[in-house]
Amino acid sequence: MSNKTFMMIKPDAVERGLIGKILNDISEAGFEIISLKLTHLSIDDARLFYSVHKDRPFFNDLTQYMSRSPIVAAVLKKESAVSEFRNLIGDTDPKNAKDGTIRAKYAISKGENSIHGSDSDENAEIESTFHFPK
Ligand code: RTP
Ligand code: MG
Repeated sequence: MSNKTFMMIKPDAVERGLIGKILNDISEAGFEIISLKLTHLSIDDARLFYSVHKDRPFFNDLTQYMSRSPIVAAVLKKESAVSEFRNLIGDTDPKNAKDGTIRAKYAISKGENSIHGSDSDENAEIESTFHFPK
């Protein structure tokens, strides 16, 4: 899986009509889209997807936010996809995200930060299978 990653365009970005702009940024950065869908997570889906954060103080806000309106889920291909994509999206908090990154351009706040990118090859595989079962 080392040349693949998983991403979601989060509700705040879909609500503001940013799907096209963000997919264009991703393509221009050299990622190939392998799988793609528009979907709407249930609260239970969001709790399962982010279960690693279940004891964090922001877990309830995060799962409410991720299930409040549709998201775009995709599997992307590029050499060193996980780290390359984390570089493209920027820091979790848009205040700390480098200029030109997707979060610097579009995110509203640390919570509503427009995009998700897997943080390891292992999680990329788990998250891809969650959204695109084999
Ligand atoms: P992601 O998993 O969504 O790509 O984001 P990340 O690795 O940059 O950040 P992570 O620590 O995994 O947190 C997951 C998501 O939870 C929300 N969050 N809110 N209010 C807060 O302090 C806070 N901290 C995290 C964000 O939506 C973050 O992307
Ligand atoms: Mg994360």
